[in-house]
Amino acid sequence: MIDPSQGLDRHIDVRIVDGHIASLGAGQEPSQPQGLPLRILDVPGCVVAPGFVDVHTHLREPGFEYKETIASGLAAAAAGGFTGVAAMANTQPVNDHPAVTELMRRRAAAVGGTRLYPVGAVSAGLAGKELSEIGGMHEAGIVALSDDGMPVMNARLMRRAMEYGRMFDLPVFSHCEDQGLTAGGVMHEGVVSTALGLPGVPGAAENVMVYRDIQLAAMTGAHVHIQHVSTAESVDLVRRAKEQDIRVTAEVCPHHFTLTHEAIRQYDTNTKVNPPLRTAEDVEAIKTGLQDGTIDIIASDHAPHHVTEKEQDYESAPAGMIGLETSVGLSLALYHQGVLSLTQLIAKLTIHPARLLGTAHGTLEVGSVADITIIAPDQTFVVDASTLYSQSRNTPFLGWQLRGMAVATIVGGNIIFERL
Ligand code: DOR
Repeated sequence: MIDPSQGLDRHIDVRIVDGHIASLGAGQEPSQPQGLPLRILDVPGCVVAPGFVDVHTHLREPGFEYKETIASGLAAAAAGGFTGVAAMANTQPVNDHPAVTELMRRRAAAVGGTRLYPVGAVSAGLAGKELSEIGGMHEAGIVALSDDGMPVMNARLMRRAMEYGRMFDLPVFSHCEDQGLTAGGVMHEGVVSTALGLPGVPGAAENVMVYRDIQLAAMTGAHVHIQHVSTAESVDLVRRAKEQDIRVTAEVCPHHFTLTHEAIRQYDTNTKVNPPLRTAEDVEAIKTGLQDGTIDIIASDHAPHHVTEKEQDYESAPAGMIGLETSVGLSLALYHQGVLSLTQLIAKLTIHPARLLGTAHGTLEVGSVADITIIAPDQTFVVDASTLYSQSRNTPFLGWQLRGMAVATIVGGNIIFERL
């Protein structure tokens, strides 16, 4: 068992009673009170960890159910080892009102598997003009604010969002992109975009917004969370902000530490993502940032799109790739490469994301709710379109062999997915 929240890394038995961690320790008595059904999971070679939490998922419902539904997205999450996912607000209607928040929560409760944590929009309709119904959504259960998919271009509006975020103790997640610089761009601006003749997105488009939002966090005292960091300069900016005790956290996505813009040479639209795949130097800086703790969290940015949308030319296809079912395998590569220890890696998938969302999960302390992910770090598998639970197939990792996977996902003591 590895539980970074308690500094635990040892052979141990975990006893779950009534959906909670009843006790930890060697030689636990395998008995269940009141004659309730008993199940013993013997998992040699596996790691028992707190349930993995993804702070960046697009579930597409309401509005885009042809790409993904709450049910199919949560099934993909469970299969990928996630016991909780934060659902972004760029649905239709946008989650900018408590009625939408409640609808998402109700539908997820009906599915009854992986937990859904709704993220409310910063601005009404993601239009960047006026604030959304933040107070109402807070009461309805949002865990954070974000216009993800769209940047908040107006710094004054972002300042106000942070002031409200601070008031309601909600972090503000920032999709950092200066649209003046990204307009028309479809991939990283550099030698490969020049060779391919595709319009580019410079790294500076991200960096200037990261700097702005760090300044706004310093000014307002709010917690800003930088989403999908993709450049070396962003990593540096976050590092320096943390040194100054500004309330900033940051996430990276597996595709941004696995692939570079070289992957686009075949014009596979499944490599189109926002922010774009960057350079080998950026990948190295991201790995260093993961190592030294600058980057707190690994998040999937699971972004399903229908095959008919992706089967267009590179410039017309929408940006995004699914990630819930490849995230753990791609992240474990960091452990196999010696970039991170298992404890460091698991912290970035459990206690750090749980703390960001303000949930009590991410720990297996005695008495806590039994949300658990069991992984087999050495088990290999091939990413196969026919076995994915997501309704969409837009991933450049089809056919890749990955090493390490989730073999059981447990929510509130119930096994919601298993490959045991
Ligand atoms: O590639 C992306 N796709 N990046 C985003 O920020 C949004 C996402 C989507 O919603 O498709």
